[in-house]
Amino acid sequence: MAFPSTFWWGAATAAYQVEGAVAEDGRVPSIWDTFAATPGATVNGDTGAGAADHYRRFADDVDLMASLGLTAYRFSVSWPRAADLGFYDRLCDALLARGIKPVATLYHFDLPQWVEDTGGWTHRDTAYRFAEHAAEVAKRIGDRVAMWNTLNEPWCSAFLGYGTGVHAPGRRADPFAAVHHLLLAHGLAVPVLRSASPGSIVSIALNAGTVRAVTDAPADLDAARRIDGLLNRIFFDPVLRGAYPADVLADTEGVTDWAFVRPGDLATIGAPLDALCVNYYQPDLVGAAASPVDDGSPYPTGGRVVHHQAPGPVTEMGWPIDPTGLRDMLLRVTADYGPLPLYVTENGAAFVDTVVAGRVHDVDRIDYLRTHLAAAHEAMAAGVDLRGYFAWSLLDNFEWALGYGKRFGLVHVDYETFTRTPKDSALWYRDVIGRGAV
Ligand code: NOJ
Repeated sequence: MAFPSTFWWGAATAAYQVEGAVAEDGRVPSIWDTFAATPGATVNGDTGAGAADHYRRFADDVDLMASLGLTAYRFSVSWPRAADLGFYDRLCDALLARGIKPVATLYHFDLPQWVEDTGGWTHRDTAYRFAEHAAEVAKRIGDRVAMWNTLNEPWCSAFLGYGTGVHAPGRRADPFAAVHHLLLAHGLAVPVLRSASPGSIVSIALNAGTVRAVTDAPADLDAARRIDGLLNRIFFDPVLRGAYPADVLADTEGVTDWAFVRPGDLATIGAPLDALCVNYYQPDLVGAAASPVDDGSPYPTGGRVVHHQAPGPVTEMGWPIDPTGLRDMLLRVTADYGPLPLYVTENGAAFVDTVVAGRVHDVDRIDYLRTHLAAAHEAMAAGVDLRGYFAWSLLDNFEWALGYGKRFGLVHVDYETFTRTPKDSALWYRDVIGRGAV
């Protein structure tokens, strides 16, 4: 299965998950520093203080990327580092020197604590603060960034950050207010990026799941509709059609009044994009609850929906492995919102990896990546305009509330010595890139 010669072959990371160096060069605390320091918030009390030490080792890491033949690298710019963006300047130069396209995400979960203290994402002003920050970053590195993601997975920021509280800031508030202000932040940033960085692709990276009903019974199909609304369409519709889905507005009656939506907001949010970026890991299997249940789900459905475990193999996260979900999601986005250029900006899997004599034989990860790339290729053959693929992740890193125990990297990181060991999957990916085919 050959991919076009123009296809972007990438890997992705995010600032707080890999950089470490949390007190360097004027960085201020983020909500994740605060949250991770809260007893019981993360597994083992892990924090991103050390992470993969990428802030100090970035030059070697870029050499490593070049040795794998990557043609694009997706990183995130830490808003808490706004006082000194020199690191991203040097990172972009190092990438371009090796022919690797810089892809920059402007928000990947790490809100400065001072912004949370003024109301965070449930407060409208945060959207304006974000647009100002976007302008500063674009002024500094916009001449070199190939593609921007305004936000990464706003679903997580809103529903895990302000709903379940599994992610920072872990404050219970109206997650729909957070959804709206995140989307407003995105919309306000689009024209800012266009003027400060005219040559770059402007996009957003959304969690994109394939939601399946456990049976064809109307109640189960309705449960799938609800979850698809709260995971996918609540973001896709405003961004690509300039409107919230009517059924989501109806479903959330009594949960939120949407009074935070002001005239003109949806036109701002629906500013045309050059491409859409999607992160995919697993499909969701859902059904109707016999009677209202609280299964700890981050979806505010009033307990009407239950999440089922799909049969078959799972990753170390317990997530079902199903590449048809990726194919179906790409086809669906194209059919419902396209045609439009798409990039898979994250896809990958955590498995238990052990270094034995300088090697990591991660056959399960190779399998995961190969079958998902094949599924992406299938979607392309059926007309999807997929322009690139980024494995999550380049390096093992801080998996948020789950800490360092879940390893997603193509490259193993020893957290005592920070030694990098390319896993077999990295060498396999290098060969795929070399051939341009799976
Ligand atoms: C998506 C998030 O963007 C990333 O930060 C996270 O590590 C991966 N999913 C894996 O859970």
